Amino acid sequence: MGTSGKMMSRGRPVGGSSTTRLMSTLPSVMVSMRPACSRAPGRRYPSHDCTGGYSRVMTIVGRERESAAVLGVTSGVLIVTGEPGAGKSTLLALAADRHQGRVLRMTGSESEANLPFAGLHQLLRPILDDAARLPARQRSALLGAIGAIGAEDTGPPDRLLLGVALLALLSDLAQRSPLLVLVDDLHWIDTGSLEALAFAARRIDGEPLAVLAGARDTTGAAAPAAFSGFPTLALGPLDASAAVQLLDRQPYPPTGGRRMRVLDQAAGNPLALVELARAYGTDGAYPAGDSTAEDLLPPTDRLMRLYAADLDALPEATRRALLLVAADERAVAGRIEALAPAEAAGLLRITGGGEARRARFRHPLIRSAIYHSVPLAARRQAHRDLAASLTGEPDRRAWHLAAAAEGPDEEIAAALEESASRARTRGGYTAAVTALERAAELSPAPHDRARRLVAAAREAVATGQPH
Ligand SMILES: Nc1ncnc2c1ncn2[C@@H]1O[C@H](COP(=O)(O)OP(=O)(O)OP(=O)(O)O)[C@@H](O)[C@H]1O
Ligand SMILES: [Mg+2]
Repeated sequence: MGTSGKMMSRGRPVGGSSTTRLMSTLPSVMVSMRPACSRAPGRRYPSHDCTGGYSRVMTIVGRERESAAVLGVTSGVLIVTGEPGAGKSTLLALAADRHQGRVLRMTGSESEANLPFAGLHQLLRPILDDAARLPARQRSALLGAIGAIGAEDTGPPDRLLLGVALLALLSDLAQRSPLLVLVDDLHWIDTGSLEALAFAARRIDGEPLAVLAGARDTTGAAAPAAFSGFPTLALGPLDASAAVQLLDRQPYPPTGGRRMRVLDQAAGNPLALVELARAYGTDGAYPAGDSTAEDLLPPTDRLMRLYAADLDALPEATRRALLLVAADERAVAGRIEALAPAEAAGLLRITGGGEARRARFRHPLIRSAIYHSVPLAARRQAHRDLAASLTGEPDRRAWHLAAAAEGPDEEIAAALEESASRARTRGGYTAAVTALERAAELSPAPHDRARRLVAAAREAVATGQPH
């Protein structure tokens, strides 16, 4: 699995002196986000911003360097790569908004990924009239590929001729007015279209023709093979202050402990921040009490679809092992082999050795999506199985029993209370507070519950973190 860092080193440096100049002018960038649902050609904007209404203005937070880089590309190619929801489409929208000239678009979709020349069809539709200026053979090749004239007139597409024709057409347009070709969701554009565009893009020679693409890097490659070898800009997580800013711009930003959990779990992913704030904000849809193993917030449906997408393709044994390590990242012993396909798919890595060995998920939301991809009963069973295998580790065992509990249970509450006192002895006061609070929740008898709550409060005061 390619990490953002790898992507950066693979790509050539972007920007330059014009980049540096632009950076100073970009403290906060306003982008008008037009509706994505409009199917009108040349009107595709980020799908996550499909408001179905009229254009609205959003403010980009952070990303000064990246904004400068995309705005700095006036001739040539740049592929913006990143996790789902990292903000690729947002940066492309920024470039389109600021572009002084013509903008053409190609947006990949899963359903059209295998339709030959579907991408080219989108790109060419608004400029079919301009194609009339091409020499006859080039024009036929282009129009034939996209079905604008019958295949009987052209025969099977000649790839070289197609690339030449596309280059000729785009260069011709660029001479009339600076041209920006936006290719979003590159990973879903059909190969034929990508090959033709790559052919043309490799031959851009200083003319005002820029190709800006956005591609998910979940597959481990910066771009599909048919569109490889171009400079890339890897979008990492938002930095901490931008993440806080984005959270605070949401209609009902979460507060208190939830805020920390949202920030933690989103790990700088803008879509996750927006989505989790919507679900867990002060006006959020999710109830407060849905606490799970180590407080993994259930992802919203949209996040779930994004992050659990790769799971179905994995073998049953791998999915089972994934559930167990999602419930407990340290539970890797005896599961390395079963986890190998998930590791190969880039969902996680196994790090460390001995006591320190654990599963590290590529993103906290992948862990959370895996955990919540099965029903509650299956999650409880996973915790019971883990508890059964942890006889020599009473603290972890107690927590797994607590996660598996279906209601108050004195035995588990007592085990957690003991765990709290061991934590206190080791100086783990916060852990002691958490264990006592959970013990109180699981106490069947009111006086035990009260006693444990008082103990938790006393502990919290001692640590200077009263709730
Ligand atoms: N820098 C940013 N400032 C403010 N909001 C942002 C920023 N980056 C992304 N967003 C918001 O986060 C959400 C996801 O962004 P975007 O759609 O651009 O991600 P993406 O990388 O294109 O995702 P996908 O891989 O699913 O296409 C959107 O709601 C967008 O408005
Ligand atoms: Mg996008």
